Amino acid sequence: MIRSLKLTDLPQILLIEEAVHISPWTESTFKTCLHSSCAGWVIELDRKIIAFLVASLHEDECHILNIGVAREHQRQGFGRELMLHALADLTVRRVKVVYLEVRRSNTRALSLYNQLNFKKIGERKAYYPAPEGAEDALIYAKLL
Ligand SMILES: CC(C)(COP(=O)(O)OP(=O)(O)OC[C@H]1O[C@@H](n2cnc3c(N)ncnc32)[C@H](O)[C@@H]1OP(=O)(O)O)[C@@H](O)C(=O)NCCC(=O)NCCS
Repeated sequence: MIRSLKLTDLPQILLIEEAVHISPWTESTFKTCLHSSCAGWVIELDRKIIAFLVASLHEDECHILNIGVAREHQRQGFGRELMLHALADLTVRRVKVVYLEVRRSNTRALSLYNQLNFKKIGERKAYYPAPEGAEDALIYAKLL
């Protein structure tokens, strides 16, 4: 089941976040985001959250800030399902363009975004912290 993210989901989301991201968001980052102009969705399986997506909304623009699928549920279509659900919901909200950033080395995520017809529109040099200094961000966009 896909539903909107609630503040009470944070403990479960943090477990996924810490397991799958190189530089995980903290609880306070999630809270700051959810108290501002952010929207979020989760996939629940047997009453357990297995995937989440958080995005910020400003008028007709959206920025996907974070997506994570629990390691044991990856490569089973959940990431794509959640992205498609979020994009459909954003279309209903009259969002016209969706942006996201991704590490250059994150080939799995890049493959997913390419599949969903996101187009690369730029790069930010040394944007992300990395074990050996910093890593570039690739900026992608999709018109809805
Ligand atoms: C990136 C992520 C969200 C994808 O979610 P997922 O549920 O594993 O992906 P899906 O099963 O929906 O796969 C969708 C597509 O993504 C790509 N993909 C996903 N896992 C992949 C893998 N291990 N190797 C190569 N491509 C992969 C493929 O293109 C795949 O389509 P296909 O199965 O038809 O080939 C998930 O791997 C994840 O949480 N990664 C860690 C956090 C992260 O990197 N977030 C993105 C930050 S920008």
